[in-house]
Amino acid sequence: MQMTNSLLLIFVSATLACMQTPARAAEDPPAWAYPVNPPDFKPIPDDGSIRRVPDSTLGLTLSQVRDPFFAPDWRPEAHAQMPSVVASGLKPNVFACGFCHRAEGTGGPENASLAGLPVAYIIQQMADYKSGARSTAVASRAPQAFMIKTAKAVSDEDVRAAALYFSGLKPTFNINVVESDFAPKTYVAGWFLAASVPSGQESLGQRIVEVPDDLYGFESRDTRVTLTAYVPPGSLNAGRILVTGQDSNKAPACATCHGKDLRGLDAVPSIAGRSPSYIFRQLYEFKIGIRAGSSSGLMKDTVAKLDQGDMIAIAAYLGTFKW
Ligand code: HEC
Ligand code: HEC
Repeated sequence: MQMTNSLLLIFVSATLACMQTPARAAEDPPAWAYPVNPPDFKPIPDDGSIRRVPDSTLGLTLSQVRDPFFAPDWRPEAHAQMPSVVASGLKPNVFACGFCHRAEGTGGPENASLAGLPVAYIIQQMADYKSGARSTAVASRAPQAFMIKTAKAVSDEDVRAAALYFSGLKPTFNINVVESDFAPKTYVAGWFLAASVPSGQESLGQRIVEVPDDLYGFESRDTRVTLTAYVPPGSLNAGRILVTGQDSNKAPACATCHGKDLRGLDAVPSIAGRSPSYIFRQLYEFKIGIRAGSSSGLMKDTVAKLDQGDMIAIAAYLGTFKW
């Protein structure tokens, strides 16, 4: 009898395991949201030429715009003076915040925009990265790994200075969201997707393909470069229904906590007009529990019933907001 029971148990667990495998695979971090450089990736060499961007008198070499202890600042007159942690970091382990998040806090799809986020929220996120409560689903991606490394090494004083600076910046909206069955063919150009040259189209499927409209300007860290996010047809309407709470079995109205127009409220961050790839990764990471900071519980409940298709729709719709 005992024998039969344990056999039965093995059979049942094997069946369950089989049944679970496809479900788990469907929830794997999707490659389009987490672009990883190919093993033979080689950054373009610096030929010494001086880079320029519109409406700036500055000239910088490729090595300068790639220096992790330097925030390219094309238009210093457009913002307050950067604290040193944002402009140059602190060698050897604190990279300049502005190197990745840009001098004007606009960020890119490979990281996050920070302009206008609440001070308390920024400080809390730094603490969550430091403690390990906020991690990343694909550890091999350098931008996340270096964010976490920087958060572990930076002083509380510098975190506060950076938080005050980024919070004081005016958010700008640089994403165009386009519903389409097709997207440009892309390659991974340094942890983000860029349109292939020569150009070509491919079927979009269930993805968001977010690419800079001007790769040269984007790689020069020009904060005014726009991006286009290609999203599946129907996403914007499906996203609007979820965001506004019209499908309350699936998710509550986001404005309850994120405020009117979703621009943030007290220590709750803005979710309006930010990179759809970034927003998707956050929803996904709340769901799988990789983002589990002290205030993440509210979001874990919010996303519990959302699948990846819902998350694509929400991220697409939120990307259309402009202030
Ligand atoms: C190597 C690039 C890099 C550097 C340098 C960097 N970050 Fe980040 N940062 C990132 C990435 C990538 C993310 C998104 C991580 C994720 O998906 O969780 C991020 C996320 C954040 C967030 C969370 C934003 C949000 O909306 O939740 C904050 C806050 C932040 N960074 C602040 C800073 C500060 C302050 C500094 C400087 C002390 C800094 N970062 C330096 C890459 C960087
Ligand atoms: C009950 C309150 C609550 C509701 C409802 C809510 N949120 Fe949030 N949301 C939060 C809090 C609090 C945070 C910060 C979490 C943290 O610190 O980890 C957050 C963070 C986020 C983030 C991460 C932003 C960033 O800068 O990284 C996203 C994306 C997000 N919410 C999307 C949504 C969407 C979409 C909805 C509606 C479907 C929604 N939220 C509904 C409370 C809420």
